[in-house]
Amino acid sequence: MMKRLRIFYMRMTGLSIPWKASRTYTAFLYWLWSRIYDLTISWDPAYRANAGRMTQKVVTPGDRVLDVGVGTGLLAEYASKIAGDYVGIDYSGAMLAKAAGKISAMKLQNVSLRWGDAVHLNIEDGTFDAVVSSFMLPHFSKPERAEVIMEMARVLKPSGRIGLFLAQGEVAPLFCLKAELLDYLSSAGFDQIDIEDCDDVYRIITAVKA
Ligand SMILES: C[S@@+](CC[C@H](N)C(=O)[O-])C[C@H]1O[C@@H](n2cnc3c(N)ncnc32)[C@H](O)[C@@H]1O
Repeated sequence: MMKRLRIFYMRMTGLSIPWKASRTYTAFLYWLWSRIYDLTISWDPAYRANAGRMTQKVVTPGDRVLDVGVGTGLLAEYASKIAGDYVGIDYSGAMLAKAAGKISAMKLQNVSLRWGDAVHLNIEDGTFDAVVSSFMLPHFSKPERAEVIMEMARVLKPSGRIGLFLAQGEVAPLFCLKAELLDYLSSAGFDQIDIEDCDDVYRIITAVKA
């Protein structure tokens, strides 16, 4: 039953994101969705649990961490407890406002938030130990997904770690197939690529910048 619900939810989520959505559409979608976003990610405890597990796989104590598509700050809740410094970037002002409220309520003093676009991060090369991102890649066309992963590689220090949390493209078509992920990551210069499928629909991807 839970498996069917998860698959249904991921396929429905996919319908809200048209192929190659414009940035205006993304901003509008999350202006609307931000009001109930945390409820929609809370019905399945596996979403939060696996997001937390992904951060634990790539974030080590004292790291400078970048979260691309920070949303309402889900990954920050877990990773900021380990990281030295945590920077969250998002295109949606409404999602950033929700994240800011939570971060201040939780007194997470090492977290800062910025508006930005994942395709052109306004960040210097080689400045982060780890880059994490959860459920953001589906917002891009395939060529843009490759660019986003390249940007993530650019801002990582040598031997920096990437951690992605997504649904399985083989189950819900909007998301990335295994072969696609391997292609993006190896083309961007990552190795030690590990793809772990968990809880019916979820996928944790980790890799290291060569
Ligand atoms: C499904 S939400 C995921 C939020 C959070 N990471 C989580 O797992 O709960 C996707 C997020 O990606 C952000 N996003 C979409 N396109 C973006 C872009 N071009 N640059 C930065 N963030 C973007 C959205 O605004 C939204 O907050």
